[in-house]
This record gives sequence, C-alpha cells and structure tokens, in this order.
Amino acid sequence: MSGYTLLTGACGGLGSAFAELLAARGEPLLLTGTSGARLSAKAEELAARYPAAIVETCVCDLREEDSRRALFSFADGRGIRFRRLVYVAGVDTQLGFEKYDEARIIQQARVNLEGAVSLMRGVLARCDLGGETEILSVGSMSAATPMPYFALYSATKKGLEYFSAGLREELKGRAKVTCVLPGGIPTREDIAENIRSHGLFGKISQKSPQEVARLSLKAVSKNKRRAVIGFWNKVLKCVTDVAPMSVKLRFIRKKWSQTEKDHFAGK
Ligand SMILES: NC(=O)c1ccc[n+]([C@@H]2O[C@H](COP(=O)([O-])OP(=O)(O)OC[C@H]3O[C@@H](n4cnc5c(N)ncnc54)[C@H](OP(=O)(O)O)[C@@H]3O)[C@@H](O)[C@H]2O)c1
Repeated sequence: MSGYTLLTGACGGLGSAFAELLAARGEPLLLTGTSGARLSAKAEELAARYPAAIVETCVCDLREEDSRRALFSFADGRGIRFRRLVYVAGVDTQLGFEKYDEARIIQQARVNLEGAVSLMRGVLARCDLGGETEILSVGSMSAATPMPYFALYSATKKGLEYFSAGLREELKGRAKVTCVLPGGIPTREDIAENIRSHGLFGKISQKSPQEVARLSLKAVSKNKRRAVIGFWNKVLKCVTDVAPMSVKLRFIRKKWSQTEKDHFAGK
C-alpha cells in the first residue's frame, strides 16, 4: 500500500516513537511539529538510521487554520497522497480552571480537538478510500470520566474519542478509524513525576512510548473503534465504568488538585 503517513507531534515523546516505528517499516512520512529545527533534526536522525526512509517535514501550528491550510498546500505541492493520519499532538495542561487564561483554553481545545478534526478532513480528501486508509488519533484514559483539575483535557479527549467513533461508522468499508486511550507514558519529566505520584497503580499501568505506538498501530490496522492500551488500564476502565459518578469525581478532585502540569504555558 503506497501513500504517506501524516504524523503530528512528531518531535514529542510519543510522536518520536511512532516516527521511528514507521521509518523502520520503510513507510514514507510527512512529519509535522511546531519547530522547523527540531523537525529537520528528527528527519536527519531517521535518515541516518534508516537510509531507505522517505521523510518530509513541514511546520504546522495546529491551533492556526492558516497553518493547517499551508501544511496541505505543502503536501499538494509535492504531489503527496496519504494512506494514514497519526494524530499524536496534544496539550495536557493540568490546572484548576480558575488559573486558566484565554490562550490556554484556545491552545488545548484547538490542538486536542479542532486540529485533529481538521487534519482528518484534509487527509481523507487526499487518499484513496479503498478500505486500507487509517485514521489514528491518540486520546487518553483521562477521557474515561470527567476530571476535576484536568477538566478541559479530559473533555477534549472525550470529544476526540466520540468524533472518531462517529467518523468510523460513516467511513465503514472505506477507511479504518481508531482512537487509542493510553494511560501514563513517561515522555517528559513532569509526566514521569505525575505517574510516580500515583504510586503502585501508576507504576504498573504505565507503558513506554514504543509500546504505545506499536499497540496503537496494531489497533488501527484491526479497525478497532477504541483501544485502551495495556492490561491495567483496561481493568481501570472497567472499574471506572461501574463506579458511581459522585465517588469518581470526589476521588479525582482530591488526588488531582495536588499536582499541576503546565508544560505548554506560553508556547
Ligand atoms: N504522556 C502521557 O502520559 C499520555 C497519556 C495519555 C495520552 N497522551 C497523549 O499522547 C500525545 C503525545 O503526548 P506526549 O506524552 O508525547 O507529550 P509531548 O512530548 O509533550 O508531545 C506533545 C506534542 O504535541 C505537539 N503540539 C503541542 N502544541 C502544538 C501546536 N500548537 N501545534 C502543533 N503541535 C503541537 C508538540 O509538538 P512540538 O514538540 O513540535 O511543539 C508535541 O510533539 C498527546 O496527545 C497526549 O495527550 C499522553
């Protein structure tokens, strides 16, 4: 099957693992991210390790409609057709909502949801819908329940999961559409610290970026509607599904009010 994979968040922790895995398979890639310098370094690194790899790069700020349009103009200019979208980009701000400003709201809502929907449309318009097209988006276990102090993140990831499920039904027989729900992935020091703060469960339920990327690609190749990544996260999802909402909310409020993540502030 020919055609490029459009990979967002390609220079991030999980995105790098996807890039590596797909380059090793010899699949042509169009990598995007917010920094031209980091994208070029990533492409050079992949080319050095996998000399046969075909890697294009294009900067795209997923918050911006013009930037998303420019990404597809770049692809069209190079005659690129797609076989897969892997939407990894995400902003995981974890703050009490009263600490939010307008920029943080826009950033998280646009990157996590609007950008994904927009890129799905752009990719679908540039691929052959013969059934092998894959639309993979990275959701989160944080979408399993509303989350005080992580409320916007949780809501955008739930929105992504719902949109993906609806789209999958519309495209049945023409494309595979999957949203994956990973739990903790120690991609940054603040996330690793957060995972540690969840004690034994954090430890046993975390997965490496490489493992999450591998299982995610497997899930979309099987056209799973939704895939919870990892045994312990599946257990947690079952428990979450049956626990009373008031109990879940109280538990999360207590636990999540104790930590903050604001990695994307000012970016
Ligand atoms: N780590 C976890 O525990 C965990 C758990 C569940 C789900 N997830 C999800 O997994 C995905 C990857 O997260 P990660 O852990 O690998 O974190 P990460 O390294 O911080 O990656 C986040 C990525 O989002 C991209 N991004 C942010 N703002 C952007 C913008 N305005 N335009 C374009 N790209 C933008 C960044 O691109 P640049 O680097 O180019 O700026 C970065 O590559 C996210 O969707 C996250 O929600 C992570």
